[in-house]
Amino acid sequence: MTGSKDDTLRFEIVKSAKGDIPSIVEIINEEAARSGAVLTVDSQKVKRWIDSGISLLAKSDGKIIGHMAANRWPISGMVELRSSVVRPEYRGKGVSSTLTKGVIAQIGKKYGKPSLVAFINKAGNGRGILEALGFRETDYESVPRELFSIGPKYRGKKEFGYRILVLRHRE
Ligand SMILES: CC(C)(COP(=O)(O)OP(=O)(O)OC[C@H]1O[C@@H](n2cnc3c(N)ncnc32)[C@H](O)[C@@H]1OP(=O)(O)O)[C@@H](O)C(=O)NCCC(=O)NCCS
Repeated sequence: MTGSKDDTLRFEIVKSAKGDIPSIVEIINEEAARSGAVLTVDSQKVKRWIDSGISLLAKSDGKIIGHMAANRWPISGMVELRSSVVRPEYRGKGVSSTLTKGVIAQIGKKYGKPSLVAFINKAGNGRGILEALGFRETDYESVPRELFSIGPKYRGKKEFGYRILVLRHRE
């Protein structure tokens, strides 16, 4: 998949490979140190995403400019987007939206189209592409109980404006 919202940035979306692990750890941990918007990761965690889950990269001229992983929750099939990071100088050009589209497509190929997507949200944005794909925000009460196993961790961070956004596909 390729993406380009304007003439200035051309990028491609590729599956992460084991050789990318150090660069993925770097791009995520740099953002964690800069803004605290993502949690720090280690190479073991990134390797698990590559082995068992979905991990995609955005590359421009061979350079990693963005990352997104996903975890599929076993009982509900809910897809949780993880460690969504785009290098600051490449933001606002649709990189994250294209990664989101790629993650949903990969999950769809493997398990069928997901009906629920969740992610930790800080700024209140990031749902535009999911809405374009047919998802709509759903209330916390109607989401799978599985979510509560990650919930408390983030509820504790509410003072920084974090919340879990859950979107359900319209049938
Ligand atoms: C959030 C982030 C991944 C967006 O990447 P991006 O490639 O700039 O995003 P896109 O251009 O595809 O736009 C996607 C959304 O991000 C928003 N966005 C775009 N530029 C942004 C910026 N500079 N800062 C914050 N949000 C931005 C857009 O409004 C859009 O929201 P919408 O889908 O509701 O319309 C990027 O700003 C980032 O890495 N932020 C720090 C890490 C983070 O907050 N990760 C999310 C929590 S896991």
